[in-house]
This record gives sequence, structure tokens and C-alpha cells, in this order.
Amino acid sequence: MSTISIIAAIADNGAIGKDQQLLCHMPEDLKRFKELTTGHAVIMGRKTFESLPHPLPNRKNVVLTTLPEAGFVDCFACESMGTALDICEKEDEIFIIGGALVYRQALRIADKMYITRIHHEFKEATTFFPVVNWDLWEETDRQEFPADSKNPYPYTFLTYTRKK
Ligand SMILES: NC(=O)c1ccc[n+]([C@@H]2O[C@H](COP(=O)([O-])OP(=O)(O)OC[C@H]3O[C@@H](n4cnc5c(N)ncnc54)[C@H](OP(=O)(O)O)[C@@H]3O)[C@@H](O)[C@H]2O)c1
Repeated sequence: MSTISIIAAIADNGAIGKDQQLLCHMPEDLKRFKELTTGHAVIMGRKTFESLPHPLPNRKNVVLTTLPEAGFVDCFACESMGTALDICEKEDEIFIIGGALVYRQALRIADKMYITRIHHEFKEATTFFPVVNWDLWEETDRQEFPADSKNPYPYTFLTYTRKK
């Protein structure tokens, strides 16, 4: 059985995006994302896919869309989360990488969450992480970092596993 893991960078006000892009450039978060997801499968919504310059290298890219025939190159396109998971069934870990619409569907089925909490309120945000019932999740790791010359806001790397 594959482990299904959500991975997201969420601001203190729950924001995850603005105008189909990320909220800010946080290289340490991108580094963690790359380290965790490389060699595994990533499942994303069509809008998140279109926000990327190209499919993520060294990962099986699976895009959810109601128009899978629309010509997605170097990735698998499919019409349901069930089909996306079937495509990834041989993977040891499957990462759900957003956006909001896809996180909402994944929250019901995920085993694990890797959250980067960005300590800032992005008032201008247009996309937000869905409401989480934290009673269902156990925090298993936490690392806190200050802002620095490259990362404009303080941030915390958090790992949660679903309670048994
Ligand atoms: N902070 C973070 O960690 C993070 C991570 C990822 C994304 N983001 C941000 O989130 C924003 C995008 O999120 P979003 O919620 O607007 O869009 P999204 O979830 O990336 O994509 C939504 C689209 O995915 C397709 N889709 C989703 N579920 C489906 C299903 N079950 N069956 C078939 N198709 C399905 C549909 O595509 P069609 O319209 O083609 O049918 C839908 O319009 C951007 O700002 C992005 O930068 C942030």
C-alpha cells in the first residue's frame, strides 16, 4: 500500500496562493519539497500544473482535469482522484501537491501531511488551504526557522500523521 502524503506551504492566515501563483519565494521550502518528492509520484490539479514552468523532473507527474485529452506532455492526465491513485499504485509514497481543490479531496484519504507554515498573513491571497480537523492528526515533527537573507518570513516545517 502506498503512503498518501499531502505537501503544502500554508501561511498563518491559511493562504496558499495568489492569482494562480505561490505567495512568495521561499527557497528552503522549495528545497524541502524537492528532497521529499523526488523519485516519487506527484498528483496535482490542472491549475497548479499550469503554474509550473514544466512537469517536475524525476517524479511521476499526474494531473487531475476534466479535459485529460487536452494535450498534457510528459505527464499523466486523468479525470478523478481514484484514477490518479491507480496510476500511482506501485509507488511507495504519493505526494498530493495542490492546489486547494485537490487538497480538499485528499484530506479525506491522506496518511501524512508535510506542512511548511509561513509566518505571515497574506491579505491579498486568493487561494486558501481547506479547513483541517486537527483532532484527526498527530504532529510528529517540528523544525522552526527564522527569516534570513533568502527566505523573507520565519517558517516552520511540520509533519503530521493521521491518528489510528
Ligand atoms: N502553497 C502551496 O503549497 C501550493 C501548492 C499548490 C498550489 N498552490 C497554489 O494554489 C493555486 C491553485 O489552486 P486551485 O485550487 O485554484 O486549483 P488546482 O487544485 O491546482 O486545480 C483545479 C483544477 O484541477 C482539476 N481537478 C481537481 N480535482 C479534480 C477531479 N476530482 N477530477 C477532475 N479534475 C479535477 C480541474 O481542472 P479542469 O478545470 O482542467 O477540469 C480544476 O479546475 C495556485 O495559486 C497555486 O500557486 C499552492
